[in-house]
Amino acid sequence: MPAAYLFDAYGTLFDVHSAVRYLSADVGPAGDALSAMWRAKQLEYSWLRSLMDRHADFWQLTQDALDYALAVHGRGDDPALRARLLSAYETLDPYPDARPLLAALRAANIPAAILSNGSPPMLASAVRAAGFEELLTGSLSVESAGVFKPDRRVYQLGADFFPGLAPAQIGFVSSNGWDAAGAAAFGFDVTWVNRAGLPPERLPAAPARVVGSLAEVAAQ
Ligand code: LAC
Repeated sequence: MPAAYLFDAYGTLFDVHSAVRYLSADVGPAGDALSAMWRAKQLEYSWLRSLMDRHADFWQLTQDALDYALAVHGRGDDPALRARLLSAYETLDPYPDARPLLAALRAANIPAAILSNGSPPMLASAVRAAGFEELLTGSLSVESAGVFKPDRRVYQLGADFFPGLAPAQIGFVSSNGWDAAGAAAFGFDVTWVNRAGLPPERLPAAPARVVGSLAEVAAQ
């Protein structure tokens, strides 16, 4: 049983597709494809900028990725839609299984913090909107490292937050398979929340366990 937990934010605690879903009437039938491309480009830009050594914060990347996805879907000339989607992204829905797990950890006196690509204002806004402030011990942003996941310097921020613990004593929970691999390579005790039932990533480190939801983490 880990002595403390680190949680990925986007895709794990917060549903990144809830922004487009919230505006589905405006976005129309291309909503799912637009949302998937928005997310894919956001992550792609995070990896590319890290490789290029041209860091910008995740809010900038979120806007850049949205601009790309809107252009692909022929909506690049709709600034009002862009503004509404970005506003919705600031208050994404939490997954329904997130609060019960965070509350269970709090009740068991096991500290839980976020470790995310998100910029500090993005994380503060999402945490506040979800009402998670009292359930979390902290929200750690990659901005302190100036590089994105899966750079080891990011996972080191999480280890440094719990100075009395070795990485293997810290549980890391992510629904992003590549993030789970990065955290496992660093040495955390990783749980991959494979919400989409995807095949294992072909990457050099594997999570210690794979579950289908955060409710299964709580049960464990
Ligand atoms: C995060 C990205 C990986 O929250 O979703 O760090």
